[in-house]
Amino acid sequence: MISKRKTLVLAMLLGLSLAAAPMPQVMKEGRKFTLMVDGKPFIVLGGQVNNSSGWPGRLQEIWPVFKALNANTAEIPVYWEAVEPKPGEFHFEAVDQIIRDARAQRLRLILLWFATWKNGVMDYAPAWVKEDTVKFPRMIDAGGKPVRVLSPHSEPTMNADRAAFTAFMRHLKEIDGDAHTVIMVQVENEPGSLFTDRDHSAAANRLFEGPVPAALASALKRPQGSWTQVFGPEADEAFAAWYVSKYINEVAAAGKKEYGLPLYVNVWLREQKNFMRPGEAYPSGGATSNMLDVWKAAAPAIDILAPDIYVMDYASYRKVCESYRRPDNALLIPETGGFGAFARYMFYAIADYDTLAFSPFGIDRLSAATVPEGVPGVAAGTSLMDLVRPMMDNYRLLAPALAQIAAWQGTGKLHSAVEEDQITERLLTFTNFEVLAQFGRPVVSYGGTFASGTDKKTGRSMIAEVAPDEFVVIGFDTRIRFEPRRGSKLQHTQFLWVEEGKYEDGAWKPARRLNGDETFFGLSLPAQGAILRAKLMSY
Ligand code: DGJ
Repeated sequence: MISKRKTLVLAMLLGLSLAAAPMPQVMKEGRKFTLMVDGKPFIVLGGQVNNSSGWPGRLQEIWPVFKALNANTAEIPVYWEAVEPKPGEFHFEAVDQIIRDARAQRLRLILLWFATWKNGVMDYAPAWVKEDTVKFPRMIDAGGKPVRVLSPHSEPTMNADRAAFTAFMRHLKEIDGDAHTVIMVQVENEPGSLFTDRDHSAAANRLFEGPVPAALASALKRPQGSWTQVFGPEADEAFAAWYVSKYINEVAAAGKKEYGLPLYVNVWLREQKNFMRPGEAYPSGGATSNMLDVWKAAAPAIDILAPDIYVMDYASYRKVCESYRRPDNALLIPETGGFGAFARYMFYAIADYDTLAFSPFGIDRLSAATVPEGVPGVAAGTSLMDLVRPMMDNYRLLAPALAQIAAWQGTGKLHSAVEEDQITERLLTFTNFEVLAQFGRPVVSYGGTFASGTDKKTGRSMIAEVAPDEFVVIGFDTRIRFEPRRGSKLQHTQFLWVEEGKYEDGAWKPARRLNGDETFFGLSLPAQGAILRAKLMSY
């Protein structure tokens, strides 16, 4: 065993610091948010396990998937019912083991606190909470019947969740306060209520008949009045959002006091394909796009309101990113799809909306060889690896460049160029250059050379202007051409040099220069992906 003094001397000789690495944190400079891990910019390339996989034994089968995927972070649930099986009796052995195993896998963790709310119901509350419906009352629907959701108006319920979450965060600090394997915690899971738009109990009705709290009216800069006067048809939902977010803020603030990790709340979106009724199509009172201001006013202890994005079309995907990326909220995507178009959408999220995290849900299924029955839009028996190959390729290509990409995010100098159905080209404008990204084979026609589109819509890339005449392009199946920006007297561009390479610890490492056939028609990102850096001149 080496003594502490010897370790100190050894560390000094090796130039190492024994001080604990700085806490993970979400930094904000101007409009730019950066997730800092060990004092360096970090983007979560994650994967979330299935709901019942937060057990060390089960995870043994899943850790290899994270490796295969090249993920840097695992999102894993922690269950109130397991942590506190009897009131006040806490068990963190499973959490401890998961943290040890994640360290062995060289993965970071985001732990998900499944407690009062899970997908708009109360299923992860311990049995002693479920059974005692007097002390821990359910919500009452408009017809006067109890539903399977705990009321946000109950002090004892909030106290119980808060006490458990506090114990959990205190424990995390004890076992991980130096190593920071856990970089963030999600408080609750898709909170809000299914089956009812708000609590219609007698006590809640009295509150609803009263005025909107002054703090909320003033935060929203609206005149005071009743809930209906201030929120019109959204009154019940806003009422629910205010009390759910205040409850969660209490839980979060108490936990944060113990251990100040970044905390976020995930959201079951209202952007669904039906009537968008709260309590039916999505949990009422969650941080849906129409309730973000209410949540921001009520829950300052929550760093980020984070959308779970499963919408399938690219326009809606971008719209959701746009609603959640605000001056007071960083985009963070804790759940999303893992195959098909989502491999393209990742480029929008990272390059256009500066997401701090991108994490497909349900990565357990990748431990099987083929797609099981019942996955929408995919034939059973399809090779899973084939299905997720584009996402794996994304992770492989982006992982070593993440610190660099994080530095470009939020500067206005990083943009995506992504192919979609009938969108075979993207034209982007930078300081001195216009950049045309084209996908598929060149097609000569009246007006110039166009692009055919690729067979499987695999064109996806991001383009960073690192100096007014220097660009880094990262991606797949994209050809990139440059022209002087419109309005310039200059007519043409030419490459001074083009390099293919990679980033290592934030430094560019060129592997070779490209020229001749490889650059005559512009920069070309191949099917297997590449990172190119080019310096240009105009004349
Ligand atoms: C969103 C939830 O947050 C997850 O826990 C999981 O239930 C998925 N939906 C299933 O699609």
